[in-house]
Amino acid sequence: MAEKTSGSRIPGFYNLTLNQRLSELAQRGELSTEDVAALSGRSGLTAEQADHMIENVVGLHALPLGIALNFIVNGREVLVPMAIEEPSVVAGASFMAKLARAGGGFTAQSDPPEMIGQVQLLCISNLPAAQQAILDHKAQLLADVSELDPVLKRLGGGPRDLEVRVIEESPIGPFLVVHLIYDVRDAMGANAVNTAVEHLAPRLESITSGKAHLRILSNLADRRLARAQCTISLGQLAFGEYSAEDVRDGIISAWAFAATDPYRAATHNKGIMNGVDPVVIATGNDWRAIEAGAHAYAARSGRYTSLSTWGQDGQGNLVGSLEMPMAVGIIGGATQVHPVARASLKLMGVNSAAQLAEIIVSVGLAQNLAALRALATEGIQRGHMTLHARQVAIAAGAQGELIERLAAQLVVEKIVRVDRAKEILDEWNKQK
Ligand code: MEV
Repeated sequence: MAEKTSGSRIPGFYNLTLNQRLSELAQRGELSTEDVAALSGRSGLTAEQADHMIENVVGLHALPLGIALNFIVNGREVLVPMAIEEPSVVAGASFMAKLARAGGGFTAQSDPPEMIGQVQLLCISNLPAAQQAILDHKAQLLADVSELDPVLKRLGGGPRDLEVRVIEESPIGPFLVVHLIYDVRDAMGANAVNTAVEHLAPRLESITSGKAHLRILSNLADRRLARAQCTISLGQLAFGEYSAEDVRDGIISAWAFAATDPYRAATHNKGIMNGVDPVVIATGNDWRAIEAGAHAYAARSGRYTSLSTWGQDGQGNLVGSLEMPMAVGIIGGATQVHPVARASLKLMGVNSAAQLAEIIVSVGLAQNLAALRALATEGIQRGHMTLHARQVAIAAGAQGELIERLAAQLVVEKIVRVDRAKEILDEWNKQK
C-alpha cells in the first residue's frame, strides 16, 4: 500500500495495482463508492445515457484515466485526473509537478468568464452609420439580453458589453460584426451565448436594416484567459550526465525555437495540449473548443508562436509561464451528466470554472516542461520506450505480471516490437 499522505503526493502510487490505487483514493475520502466505480470503469457512462447525448449511438469509446500527482496550484494540493491514450503524459506531468513543488508549485490566475458571441450583419449600405446606431442602442440591447436567463442573472452573470467591428475587406465585400460579451459564470457557456446572440439578431436587423447572418459563439475566448507560472529551482534540474545549467539553458533554447518558428511552435503547443486536453476530457468539457481557442490565440500576432515562455530569474532558476484561452465549465453539458466527469471534478475539489481553468493551465505548463526537458537532454524516445513497451506487451497478448516482465525484456533488448514480444512470450510459454 502507498505511504499514507495528505495532499497530492502519494509515494509509490505508481507501483500499486489498479485496485489498490482506487482504494487509496477512496480511503483518502476524496471519492465516494460510486465515484470509484465510475473512475474504474465498473459503472460510468452507460450506453443508454450515451444514447441521449448524441445521435445514432451504438456504443461507448473508453480512454485510460490516470491521476497526475504532486500538483500544488495556488497553494492547494490537487490530484489531477487525465483521460488520455498516450504513454508518458501522466508520468511526465507528475514528475514536473514534483520539481515545481520545491518552488511552491504553480501559481495561476484567470480572467472573468466572459465569452464572445458574434452576429454577422450583411446587406448594410452605410456601415459606419449602422455601427453607430447599434452603439446608440447598446444599453437597451444589453438590458434586453440580461432578462433572457434569470438563473444566470441571479448568479451574477449575463451581458457585459457590445462591440461593433467593421470588416473592411472580405471575399463578399465589407460587413459588420457585433460582439456580445457575455459572462457565463461557471458554465463553458456555448449554449447561453448562442441563445443570446440568436435573441439579439432580429433587434440588430431592425436597428440597421441589415440582414443578420451567422449568430454563434467565438472559440477565440481571449477575454477568458488563464495563466500559470512556475519556478523550478536550479538544484532540481540536474540529472544523469546533465548539469542543472545545461538543462535550464537547453529548455530555454528549445522554447526560443518554438517562439520563432511556427513548425516547431505547432509541436511545442501540441505538447502543452497533451496536458490540457486530458483534464478537459476527464471533466466532460469541450476539448475541440479549447484546441481551437489555443491555436487561434497562438496566432494572434499574425504569426503562429509558442503559448508558453521559459527563461531564468535573478538566481538562475528556471521560470515558465503559460497563457491561453480556457473556456471550461463545471456545470452544464457533459460535466454533470457523465459520471467520470462528476468524479473528476470532485477529485480536484474545484468549486468554480475559474479554479478548474487554473488547474488545467498549470498541467499544460507542467507537460510542456516535461517535453522540453526530455527533448533538450536525452530525447523523448528513451522515456517513451519503457511505457510504449508495456502497450506492445499487451498487444502481444501478455497478461497480469507478464506485462511488466515482457516490457522490461523488450527495453533491455531495445527491440520494442509486437513480433519480438510474441516470440518472447512463446519462448516463455515453452519453458513452463
Ligand atoms: C508528443 O506527444 C509531444 C512532444 O512532441 C511535444 C514537444 O515536442 O514539445 C514531445
